[in-house]
Amino acid sequence: MNKKNIVLCGFMGSGKTAVGNQLSKLTSRNYVDIDQYIENKSGKTISEIFAESGEQYFRDLEYEAAKELSLKKGCIISAGGGTLLYERNIQVLKENGIVIFLDVPLSTIKYRLRNDKKRPLLQRPDKDRVMEELYNQRLPLYKETADYRVDGTKSPIGVAKDICKIIRK
Ligand code: S3P
Repeated sequence: MNKKNIVLCGFMGSGKTAVGNQLSKLTSRNYVDIDQYIENKSGKTISEIFAESGEQYFRDLEYEAAKELSLKKGCIISAGGGTLLYERNIQVLKENGIVIFLDVPLSTIKYRLRNDKKRPLLQRPDKDRVMEELYNQRLPLYKETADYRVDGTKSPIGVAKDICKIIRK
């Protein structure tokens, strides 16, 4: 078995968690989510961390989490939408991981996140504009960083099956 981790990346709402769970069932690999790991370790939600200590502090926790989770072998790791914006995170996650980009068009992302209450960056009246800006800024980075790209508009099980084909090659 390939002991590299599988790192799922993509914009908020690209389905990393749902796909990660399905992929975990299909491959019997453990699934870990960087945000979930941060929440468990700190005893706070991501929203509470942003509200109490700000985004930069969250980014530091994210880096610590990426470093710690990269020490695992053969796991599925889901990154946050902003994780791969930081070179330090890319370095640790790629050291022992294959990065897969879940590609979903902005229109689908906007639809999926229309009622979102959990993502601190989107809790504002000009949320659509923010999504557009972040999406356009991040898309080239996801493409550049990822080892593989999959069509993220399929159902989570469909995307997970496509990823299986890639990792079994
Ligand atoms: C963020 C994405 C979130 C979470 C935090 C910041 C981002 O993760 O890490 O709210 O900068 O895009 P998801 O992509 O899982 O929503």
